[in-house]
Amino acid sequence: MDKNFFEYAPAPESRALVSIKAQYGLFINGAWVEPKTKDKFATINPANEEVLSKISQASDSDVDRAVKAARAAYLKTWSKMPAKERGKYLFRIARIMQERAREFAVLETLDNGKPIRESRDVDVPLAAAHFFYHAGWADKLDYAGLGINPKPHGVVGQIIPWNFPLLMLAWKIAPALATGNTVVLKPAETTPLTALLFAEVCQQAELPAGVVNIITGDGATGAALVNHPGVDKIAFTGSTEVGKLIARSIAISGKNATLELGGKAANIVFEDAPIDEAVEGIVNGIFFNQGHVCCAGSRLIVQENIYDDLLAKLKRRMSLIRVGDPLDKNTDLGAINSAAQLAKIKELSASGDTEGAFRWSPDCQLPSKGFWFAPTIFTGVTQSHRIAREEIFGPVLSVLTFRTPQEAIEKANNTPYGLSAGIWSEKGSRILWASKALKAGVIWANTFNKFDPASPFGGYKESGWGREGGRHGLAPYLKGAK
Ligand code: NAI
Ligand code: MG
Repeated sequence: MDKNFFEYAPAPESRALVSIKAQYGLFINGAWVEPKTKDKFATINPANEEVLSKISQASDSDVDRAVKAARAAYLKTWSKMPAKERGKYLFRIARIMQERAREFAVLETLDNGKPIRESRDVDVPLAAAHFFYHAGWADKLDYAGLGINPKPHGVVGQIIPWNFPLLMLAWKIAPALATGNTVVLKPAETTPLTALLFAEVCQQAELPAGVVNIITGDGATGAALVNHPGVDKIAFTGSTEVGKLIARSIAISGKNATLELGGKAANIVFEDAPIDEAVEGIVNGIFFNQGHVCCAGSRLIVQENIYDDLLAKLKRRMSLIRVGDPLDKNTDLGAINSAAQLAKIKELSASGDTEGAFRWSPDCQLPSKGFWFAPTIFTGVTQSHRIAREEIFGPVLSVLTFRTPQEAIEKANNTPYGLSAGIWSEKGSRILWASKALKAGVIWANTFNKFDPASPFGGYKESGWGREGGRHGLAPYLKGAK
């Protein structure tokens, strides 16, 4: 491929759209407060390692303050408010998010490293869409088929990861508020800025004080929230490892929990698949958001007789991926979110080399500062390789092959996870057969990574408990609902 085939002039989005404070307190009971210990940690831009701001480390007593504020708001205001009025606040939040969309997109890209094209076109619009969708549910819960006059739990503790910071906040807060719960949310330590901007949106929407509380900190803050006796329900998205810890620590507490954990999705390409579309879907499946996606199509499972053709086309397509400045509107692949995540991707990729798989990346120049990893595929992967079993959570695709459809399903299901899967075939009956046989919560056919607030999302086995989104996603926030 001619290297200059797709040269674009830089088109950076303006940083001036956001104003980042030098430091942030905690958002408790509708106001900014200083943490009791005054401990701060830095959040950086992973594309150049610039310190963006200093963030508060909430201690146990700060968690306690936030939970008490949420309880008081629940008892005095939120549980007494007519559902229709609650819905109005959600509509208001959704509209403000739309109005401030560019600000949110730039801030997300700076703090997370994802391309502005994705934060602008996916994360932020979908986050607003989640608030719009759930705003509509607030006064219709009696008709959702979840029981007569279903009741909220009370105070919900929510812990989110760094891969889709604002979007995960929306997935958590929108259904919680729509169903009449109040919230204490903790964003991930490397990406707290859009959650802190969201706190300003709550103020702007004049949401009653204490209905949403945002506290920042590391895993210790998360654990304090999980273990606080005043929290009635936990909603967590993150690693399977921490998910298991949470499940253990709430085991006999009577607390409800939804856990959205890891994945190792199979993207299966049958011999009759539309190859060019499949190549786009494979690229989207693994390189979207640098592969920091729990439902990423990280195992490509290809029918043997089309393997050579598909691989040649995939490599050609991968050589057109533009890696670099996340704020550049032309960028396809941004920065890896943290030094720790980069180390994990490097370690797992090295295991691919030593275990006998073959590594390939297009020729691409990585920036000298920040955390970067070239789009990579491994061929010759077998099911016993670590890169076929463990979640890499980076732009690394493992390629396996199959001869019969049955073998494809067996390989796809041979994982402790079960979050998502992809099927590429022009034969409808094959799609229906395969989607029934695959043990995964979300199955895409001839597409990948499509999200909609009306569509439930969640996994089997070690991918977690419960569903988020759609009518199904309301149930975990209501007592006794199924
Ligand atoms: P993590 O699970 O440690 O972090 C997710 C969130 O949980 C963060 O807000 C963190 O502060 C919080 N947390 C950490 N320890 C906690 C505890 N004991 N109790 C309560 N909350 C706690 O994920 P990490 O370390 O950032 O990433 C490690 C791996 O996890 C990644 O390489 C990836 O494979 C996977 N991961 C999966 C995600 C998903 O969407 N399924 C999201 C993030 C990571
Ligand atoms: Mg950051």
